[in-house]
Amino acid sequence: MRIAVVGTGYVGLVTGTCFAETGNAVTCIDIDEEKVRKLAAGEITIYEPSLEKLFIRNLREGRLKFTTDLASGIQGAVLVMLALPTPPGGDGSADLSAILKVAGDLGKIINEYKVIVDKSTVPVGTAEKVRQAVATNCRAEFDVVSNPEFLREGLAVEDFMKPDRVIIGTSSERAKKIMSDLYAPFVRQGNPVIFMDERSAELTKYAANSFLATKISFMNEIAILCERMGADVDLVRRGMGSDDRIGKRFLFPGVGYGGSCFPKDVRALVKSAAEAEYDFKILDAVMQVNAKQRVYLVARLKKYFRGDLNGKRVAIWGLAFKPNTDDVREAPALYMIDELLKEGATVSAFDPEAMPNVRKVLGGKVTLAQSQYDAIKDCDALIIATEWSEFRTPDFERMLSVMKNRVIFDGRNVYEPNHMKELGFYYESVGRRTVG
Ligand SMILES: NC(=O)c1ccc[n+]([C@@H]2O[C@H](COP(=O)([O-])OP(=O)(O)OC[C@H]3O[C@@H](n4cnc5c(N)ncnc54)[C@H](O)[C@@H]3O)[C@@H](O)[C@H]2O)c1
Repeated sequence: MRIAVVGTGYVGLVTGTCFAETGNAVTCIDIDEEKVRKLAAGEITIYEPSLEKLFIRNLREGRLKFTTDLASGIQGAVLVMLALPTPPGGDGSADLSAILKVAGDLGKIINEYKVIVDKSTVPVGTAEKVRQAVATNCRAEFDVVSNPEFLREGLAVEDFMKPDRVIIGTSSERAKKIMSDLYAPFVRQGNPVIFMDERSAELTKYAANSFLATKISFMNEIAILCERMGADVDLVRRGMGSDDRIGKRFLFPGVGYGGSCFPKDVRALVKSAAEAEYDFKILDAVMQVNAKQRVYLVARLKKYFRGDLNGKRVAIWGLAFKPNTDDVREAPALYMIDELLKEGATVSAFDPEAMPNVRKVLGGKVTLAQSQYDAIKDCDALIIATEWSEFRTPDFERMLSVMKNRVIFDGRNVYEPNHMKELGFYYESVGRRTVG
């Protein structure tokens, strides 16, 4: 099949590469000339495990191409997939300007039947808006399909190649057949392709992300209760999670959710609900809890230093919003840094992949260290903000020798409190008993 993917960011590049991997001829289109130049030259633009190998192979074999030109990029493609940004507008609703602009442009240039597939996360009713925007100037036949993407950054290739489920929202039998053929190689193990109407497909994505965000905020509140009541969240989590109705996954407390999806999608659903004259109370609370949780460790650190962080040198391990990605959009670490700087502390930080992106956002406001050990040299305290594997079993002796104060505030519960005590650290984590 010939496929065009419009927007070549995290979702678009993974989508394009994985469809090329199953033998399709894919052209990825983006307005960012520098990005397209790099990708066409074989230089990958994001860090995503397992992606580079597939990207290089499909580029070499001529199944994956890149261009900035929409008209030539969609030439001959039966499928045009939109993987465009839908950032929050000022009022929290999803900004559809990129999608509707491309839809309008497509209407002017398509001259044969196409299935226009929305992979971006978009509010209910967007498929109709896209249909109208295309139809305004279009003489050819087309269908609009909602096919929300569920990949997780850091596991994107695995998620795309073996999806738990594929959601396809369409009222067209013709588009349904094309979409079924497209996804057949990805669901050979029997994972469901669930067909539904466009509106239900659009809402499914928001409902799923908002539910996961709710789970996170719920566990973060349980963790705070554990701290106050002398319980241990690891035990509570295990006890809860062994009930099938609850499940073991996604019950880890931490420093709040971040990334380019959960914060914006929860806000957008609240906004959509308000437009439908419904006050989505649970999600309001989810957002409030998260806003506090992102800076909760800084508040605890301040308490530890008797209310004064001025002049303290604080190290941070992990800047990406989660491990195995270089994405720092809405990363809790950035909120912590902001708070620490406001309190007059200095920050030195290390992340295995995300430092170039942090440099773009923060410039020289923090010191970005060469290694995890350089970051903690002479520090008054270390905060662990992202649980990269390499932070799990570090050289503790080396840490003890380079840190000025042996103080760790662990936002990801990476270490065993008793072990840290034996080693000689002051150690606080989330929802577990404090050990000094
Ligand atoms: N990142 C994720 O983990 C993830 C997962 C599921 C769904 N989503 C959703 O997928 C969508 C895309 O997210 P992303 O993280 O890939 O975004 P991104 O910002 O990484 O990529 C978007 C790309 O679109 C390009 N672009 C912008 N306007 C364009 C235009 N007019 N024509 C062509 N290209 C244009 C940008 O240059 C950029 O390369 C969003 O709606 C997001 O919510 C993201």
